[in-house]
Amino acid sequence: MTSVVRAGHLAPYFKATTSVLTNGIKPLVAVPVPSDTVIAQPLPSTSTVQSLHGSLPVQGLKVKHSTRLPMQVRFAHSDISYPDFSAYRRKETLDPRSQSKDNVDNRQSFTYLIAGAGGVAGAYAAKSVVTQFVTSMAAAADVLALAKIEIKLADIPEGKSVTFKWRGKPLFIRHRTAQEISTEKAVAVDQLRDPQHDDQRVQDPNWLVVIGVCTHLGCVPVANAGDFGGYYCPCHGSHYDASGRIRKGPAPLNLEVPPHSFIDGGLLVVG
Ligand code: FES
Repeated sequence: MTSVVRAGHLAPYFKATTSVLTNGIKPLVAVPVPSDTVIAQPLPSTSTVQSLHGSLPVQGLKVKHSTRLPMQVRFAHSDISYPDFSAYRRKETLDPRSQSKDNVDNRQSFTYLIAGAGGVAGAYAAKSVVTQFVTSMAAAADVLALAKIEIKLADIPEGKSVTFKWRGKPLFIRHRTAQEISTEKAVAVDQLRDPQHDDQRVQDPNWLVVIGVCTHLGCVPVANAGDFGGYYCPCHGSHYDASGRIRKGPAPLNLEVPPHSFIDGGLLVVG
């Protein structure tokens, strides 16, 4: 109804509706009139919402009713009390008249300090996360332990080839005889498909260390077999000599020599 009455051209039609019946017999009309004494608040020195609100003379108004006067009561919104947030404000900003540059500088310095400390902490946390993620992709300790294999050479008799497992592949360790050594050293390199002198393939002439995977299609050759007394691949008939060099058959390359070293105590370390 208030919104309808506010439309000026409709106000006369709604004037009667503002009357209320108090006792059911006589219409009663109420009207606000100023009281005899209006309490005028002194104007605040600073014009803020709170201070201006406090200066309004709302306390001096009274509502009287009459049977002769129309009634119109306006509910002012200016008497709404505002919450006080002083307890949540910084001490430096409680006084709105304070415009000290130092005050601003101090607060900005604190803000920059917090932002900087947060940035450093965030960067450190990000670095830790990235480090852990990269470390999780590295090889496990048990895998690294298998990266190298240690072989006791005294357990391999002369003239025998023993097979070990290294990084998932067969590994041939051959204890060559003096006859095999002299034969392999005498081979003419220019007659070989994959030219390599025996000295290039062995660190100690007594020991041949090769990976037991045929260079043709990956079969595992048989030791002490074939036309050259070294290794023979039965899959397609490749013959390797006692230096692991391809001498006959479809294989294109010599058997691979892995990185290895001989250490004191008759030990061979491969890997
Ligand atoms: Fe060895 Fe074919 S895989 S000869």
